[in-house]
Order: sequence, then structure tokens, then C-alpha cells
Amino acid sequence: EMASAPAHHLRVRVLLVVLCAVSASASASFPWPWKRSGHDYRDALAKCILFFEGQRSGRLPADQRAAWRGDSGVSDGRAAGAGVDLEGGYYDAGDNVKFGFPMAFTTTMLSWSVLEFGDDMPREERRHAADAVRWGTDYLLKTLAHPGVIFMQVGDPWKDHECWERPEDMDTERTVYNVSAGRPGSEVAGETAAALAAASMVFRDGDREYAELLLDSAKKAFEFADSHRGAYSDDMDLRAGGCPFYCDFNGYQDELLWGAAWLRRASGDDTFREYIQNNGKTLGAEDSINEFGWDNKHAGLNVLISKEFIEGEALSMQSYKESADSFICTLIPESSSPHIQYTPGGMIYKPGGSNMQHVTSISFLLLTYAKYLTKSSHTVNCGDISVGPDTLRLQAKKQV
Ligand SMILES: *[C@@H]1O[C@H](CO)[C@@H](O)[C@H](O)[C@H]1NC(C)=O
Repeated sequence: EMASAPAHHLRVRVLLVVLCAVSASASASFPWPWKRSGHDYRDALAKCILFFEGQRSGRLPADQRAAWRGDSGVSDGRAAGAGVDLEGGYYDAGDNVKFGFPMAFTTTMLSWSVLEFGDDMPREERRHAADAVRWGTDYLLKTLAHPGVIFMQVGDPWKDHECWERPEDMDTERTVYNVSAGRPGSEVAGETAAALAAASMVFRDGDREYAELLLDSAKKAFEFADSHRGAYSDDMDLRAGGCPFYCDFNGYQDELLWGAAWLRRASGDDTFREYIQNNGKTLGAEDSINEFGWDNKHAGLNVLISKEFIEGEALSMQSYKESADSFICTLIPESSSPHIQYTPGGMIYKPGGSNMQHVTSISFLLLTYAKYLTKSSHTVNCGDISVGPDTLRLQAKKQV
């Protein structure tokens, strides 16, 4: 799928977020000091969190550390309908487009990283990571502020890419795209719900009011995603903006489950568990798809939902643990099940562009699953061998 998308250069940011997560979690699994065998995980973590400041759009705050960056895109949103405030958020990569779908996924992953490994981060990095999450969520809240629509993107990628200039100097038209009941985009709405729900847990201890606003908004975004089902790629005008860069190749169904799963975790509300139970089959939860990235959430979904089963609360979620196990087994060379491909040097390899996105996101899942398993007596059964958390961590470290 990805091979057909000439968007490799755009995936830098999505890649980096996962790398941050992996650095954080790899650090966490080492005893102090963090530096081992020439890999300074702490330094890598600091730098990849700093990277996000370089991608900031909008008016920059006084504590901005990437000081070579200036204010930009301050009137974003003016081109929408009657004009709205869409200042802020992140540029995608070396371009100046703000693509809502991968930006929301980035925010989800940053939040997930902080949730699982934030306690192991040095305090100042935990704070910088939370700031990076908030830079995303402040913008995502704005995309929901106008009733009846969700703003999915600012910037026409074709015009933008013709004009290679820094955002401070940009003079290209800032086209605004929205999804609505008539032109649905459940992937961007569902991912926005996931991002806001995950982020609400990041801020729960430090800023309760903000956390509640995020969770509330996540529920609204999810309702919008679920009641107006469809993919933005199916609308001619939206397709012209989103595709082929961040075309929704695999459909919106996984983002509905993913949004519900994050809402379940953030709210503890049974409604969302029931949603997953009642809709899992029709939304493709049983298709064992061993992918995880900005477009395809399946493997991440299985790991995320497994947490509830592993912790012993939700027997109804057992099938997700089984799917997560079979995904993990494809990564274990010694197991007899069908395998993911590795390069001769031992790196995960998937055909198509931007291979590192798979390496980093899969490594994150290995470390997260290892963490869940550690808290229980569960292991992963891969045919005739049984695999425990240490093996998963070792596998992830090799990838890092
Ligand atoms: C949403 O997009 C449509 C089509 O471009 C446009 O007519 C409408 O005004 C937009 N709505 C808002 C609130 O910007």
C-alpha cells in the first residue's frame, strides 16, 4: 500500500515520535546510568523530544528552546468558512502542511509513551514531553471547536510542496479542509478521539481541568466519528488534500476501535468496552493484521486492549491478547510461526517506503507488551516455545 504513496519524505515526524517512545522505554529498561554499550539513550530521548519544538506552528512561547524558530501560520484558519482559529499544531515534516490525521496519531503516541514510561524519564524530560503533547492537543481542540465539522488539515500539499520555504516566510495559500456529516472522516475523527483521550491521562495529575476538557472533547470526537462513518479519502475534494500523502489506505474501521479503546482506558467507562465487544467483528478486529502506524492501528490496538485482559479484569478481551500474541510471535525468530522479514543485519524490514516507521513502532509495542507481561504471570505462546518479557526487550533493544 505504502509503496504507491510518494510521501516518504513526509513521515519524518511520525517516525521521530515513535523513536522518542522507544528511547524512553529503552532507557527505562536499563539500570542507571542510562548509557550502555555506546548508546546514550538519555541523550537520544532529550533530542527527539526537542525535535518537536522545531516542528511547532503558531505563536511560540517564551520558553521555546528551539530558538532558531519564529512565529508562523498565525492566521491559519482564516480561510475556513467564516474564519476560525486554527493557529498552532505541528508541521508535518520539511513542509508546512498541518495534516490532522498523522498529527493526531503523533499526539496519541507521545501520550502513550508518557503514560507507560514517563515515570522513568528524568523529570525535565517528562515535562518537555508533556509540553509536546499539549502543543498537539491545544490544536486538536481547535479543530473541534466549530459545531458540525472537524478541521482535518491546513495547507494544500501540492501548492505547499512547490514552494520550499521555511514557515516563517511562507506566502502560500493556507487552504482549510473539514470533515462533516456529509463528507465524513472517521479516521481523523477517531484518531483525534484517541489522542485526546490518551492525553487526558497525561495531564490528570498536573492539570485536572485540562484533562477533563480533553476527555470530554475526545468523547465528542468519537461520537462524530462513529455517527458519520466514512473515510475522507472517499470524498473528491478531501482526497485532493489528503492523498496520496496521508490517504486513508486501510479504512476508518480501525480508528473507531482504537478511539473506543483509548476512551475505555481513559474513562474506565463500560460503554466503550461494550462498543468494542459489539462492533469488533464488523470493524475488522479479528483480521489479524500485523501492522502499526499512522494508517493502520491493528497491532497497537491488540496490545492496548490486552492490558485489560492481562491485568485480569476482562475475559471478554481475551481474543485481543491472542491476536497480540500472534503478532509478537512473528517477531521472534526462534518461533515456528510465520515471520516478519529481517534484513541481514537484523533490522525489521517491511516492503514499501519509510521502513523505520515499522522498526520504531513495532519496537515500542514490544517494550510496552513486555511491561504489561511483567506485571502478570502471562507469557506469549509461540507454538512450541514460550516467550517472556525479557526476550521482547532484547528484541526491541536490537532494533534501537
Ligand atoms: C467546510 O468545507 C466546506 C467545503 O469546502 C465549506 O463549504 C464550509 O464552509 C466549511 N465549513 C466550515 C465551518 O469552515
